[in-house]
Amino acid sequence: MVILSIETSCDETSLAVVRITEGLNNPKVEILREIVFSQINIHKEFGGVVPSLAKREHIKNLPILFEKLKDDKWNMDDVDLISVVVGPGLEPALWTGINFANELGKKYSKKIIGVNHLHGHMYSFLLSAKKNNLKFPAIVLLVSGGHTILISMESLFEYKKLGETLDDSIGESFDKVARILGLSYPGGPEIERLAKKGNENAIKFPMPMINSGDYNFSYSGLKTAVLYYLKNNGVDIKNFSPENSEDYIKMLDEARISRNDVAASFQKSALGIVASKSIKAIKKFNSKSIIIGGGVAANKKLRKMIEKLLKENDLKKVDLLVPEMKYCMDNASMSALSAYLLTNKTQYPLEANGLLDI
Ligand code: KG4
Ligand code: ZN
Repeated sequence: MVILSIETSCDETSLAVVRITEGLNNPKVEILREIVFSQINIHKEFGGVVPSLAKREHIKNLPILFEKLKDDKWNMDDVDLISVVVGPGLEPALWTGINFANELGKKYSKKIIGVNHLHGHMYSFLLSAKKNNLKFPAIVLLVSGGHTILISMESLFEYKKLGETLDDSIGESFDKVARILGLSYPGGPEIERLAKKGNENAIKFPMPMINSGDYNFSYSGLKTAVLYYLKNNGVDIKNFSPENSEDYIKMLDEARISRNDVAASFQKSALGIVASKSIKAIKKFNSKSIIIGGGVAANKKLRKMIEKLLKENDLKKVDLLVPEMKYCMDNASMSALSAYLLTNKTQYPLEANGLLDI
């Protein structure tokens, strides 16, 4: 099956043509062509993604990228269906993808199916070439800018949500803490960069809900704890805005705040919570694999932490399945997989749904 996939849920405009063969249990994926166009430079100066700007950029970029997508590896006659992400995400942005899919569907007489962005992150590990034999049951940890979810998986297309965040997502907490440390958006990679130079045991930040006995999360308290740490050390957070980050960073230096230590200590707590709860779930469900996906899965420390905990808990036989770095971020290739694996089970109307659940 050849799928033309469209992704516009946030600030990446992405198109892909993907050939998927060999059935639902062990799909073989060949990416014929893919383009991911990031709008990050446009949103950066606002310290986060601005929905109206994202919409304007998607509308401008989609036809240009579609022309660029064309090459001699594929043509529209090969395409069996068009898939488009309908949620979750920013509704004005999602609509641009849906409208574009409708235009293409009409012009080339192709069937269109709506897909769930979160399924894309869940299956993104399948895009990497060196996938070993998949072993189930598995635990899936989805950690992105919008979500923090634990899932138990019986097969690639049978899964159940175990728990999720009750307030902020883990990615959001990275972005917010980055902001109060005077770092640019998106904050995750910036925090990871600083954390490498810092002492992760310098400050003891809380790990909310780590022992809650369920699989839910809470990240707003951790961000507040970082805020109070700075305030208690004499930093006036109100002074910060992306335009005056130089002055702000000078103020942090004068207050003798080590941004590296704060980043490292925050990161240890933030990642420790999801890693620890994943291990608990693996034990409870006798899982044979742990799959991670979403923007925060790009964090190398998270991967190392999970590997270390697997060893310490005598779970060395459990496979850790991670996407390639570039497929942790939003991309259209990953959602072609959800179109292939889940169309028979879940059908979504072609309408933007910002709060679509998994
Ligand atoms: O999956 P994604 O690209 O978009 C959503 O679906 O939300 O995730 C973006 C999130 C942002 O919050 C960003 O700060 C975070 O992923 N992120 C990271 C890293 N790279 C991206 N968080 C921690 N460490 C990273 N290296
Ligand atoms: Zn995403």
